[in-house]
Amino acid sequence: MAKPDSERTLRPATQLVRGGIMRSNYDETSEAMFLTSGFVYDSAEQAEQTFLGSVEHFQYSRFGNPTIAMLEARLAALEGAEACRTTATGMAAVSSAILAHVKTGDRVVASRALFGSCHWIVSTLLPRYGIKTEFVDGADLAQWKAAFSKPAALVLLETPSNPMLELVDLAAVCEMAHEAGAIVVVDNVFATPLLQRPMKFGADVVVYSATKHFDGQGRVLGGAVLGKKKWVEEVLQPFIRNTGPALSAFNAWTILKGLETLHLRVPAMCRNAAAVADMLAERGEVGAVYYPFRIDHPQHALAKQQMAAGGTLVAFDIKGGKEAAFRFMNALRIIDISNNLGDAKSMITHPATTTHMRVPAEERARLGISEGSLRLSVGLEDVNDLIEDIAAALDAISPGTVPSAKPSPVEAPSAAPAAETAAEAPARSPRKRAAKESAVEAMVDLFRTPADETPPAPGPKVG
Ligand SMILES: Cc1ncc(COP(=O)(O)O)c(C=O)c1O
Repeated sequence: MAKPDSERTLRPATQLVRGGIMRSNYDETSEAMFLTSGFVYDSAEQAEQTFLGSVEHFQYSRFGNPTIAMLEARLAALEGAEACRTTATGMAAVSSAILAHVKTGDRVVASRALFGSCHWIVSTLLPRYGIKTEFVDGADLAQWKAAFSKPAALVLLETPSNPMLELVDLAAVCEMAHEAGAIVVVDNVFATPLLQRPMKFGADVVVYSATKHFDGQGRVLGGAVLGKKKWVEEVLQPFIRNTGPALSAFNAWTILKGLETLHLRVPAMCRNAAAVADMLAERGEVGAVYYPFRIDHPQHALAKQQMAAGGTLVAFDIKGGKEAAFRFMNALRIIDISNNLGDAKSMITHPATTTHMRVPAEERARLGISEGSLRLSVGLEDVNDLIEDIAAALDAISPGTVPSAKPSPVEAPSAAPAAETAAEAPARSPRKRAAKESAVEAMVDLFRTPADETPPAPGPKVG
């Protein structure tokens, strides 16, 4: 077992690469994947003592597993949380955190701007068990204050929210919630622990979809719940052990590997997202752009207080509603149409017809999700390619231009030109050819070192 240095708090990059490592007797370099459902005991006595809790021994992978334990330790170290339990999906993390804590007769207060499935849990599922939810506009502290005039058991909020990137003042809401007797559960998926640590502002529980930035490469689903040791062991753990939303060891291992590069991926994605947001704001086809670190974000000052960077997601409204939004999406050549986010690949979503389709229309309108709203998860591609892709797609929807449908990635090469209409051809073919021609140059550029650069000819001094 690796020796953690308890005297020293390691920095996030080190925690992400080394946090939680437990080496087996084989002294492997990479974290081992314990793909086993159960564990054996040396004796009947050891089995009994394990079940009594008087010896430490893994029992069954629904309760715990060495690979999963490594992931939980790594996430707890990164978040600065006392304990972590992982789950099969982000939704299993959210639902476990809520259902483990509340009981019939309790009151839940939630911000309106929630991911569709989170909204369903508090608006539809909880009332079936006699738990009432009051929704508030997350950005409006007066509404939070009014909601806390009566006792509450739990608060659920997302900041920044999915999809319109609305923020909640964590410190203010946590203080009011605690006075009303509630624990605060923060869905920190959009920010990641690298940009925002809700516990520093008073949050009791932080939940993640590990499917998003933690894996970050579109491979596996996962979730995590972090909190105080006592709450995790006494409230959450019995719920998870007995209802069984366990993460698989394979997924835990994949997420461990994903975490090793989180501190490189997320800042690079944030830089790309900020540049894309600025570029979108310059375009006439685009209405509002929502990006927390842009000065025109209504909660820009709060974003600067709570977050280390503006995040990897940008929301914006295309003028012309659903029809224009769909034409824009279909005209993109690099950015994929997908409802996932936090991936190395940039992805665009039309929330009104996908992730937030089941949120009632009037509620969507209150959340600012219009028929023209789009959510862009900005990935790790070269930002110039992303900007060019977006610019070309916006050009294609400008009046007077007929955009093409996105070609299928498995389309037979010979079928493509024949299927193209005259209007489609100019939008697609030259871009594909240019990409091929520049492929070798791009590889050379990637490996060019500063020593290879020819120093520029001395010119006149400026400034
Ligand atoms: C903010 C937020 N919370 C929770 C989830 C649920 O995560 P999962 O899909 O891993 O269940 C998502 C998924 O998109 C999300 O965006």
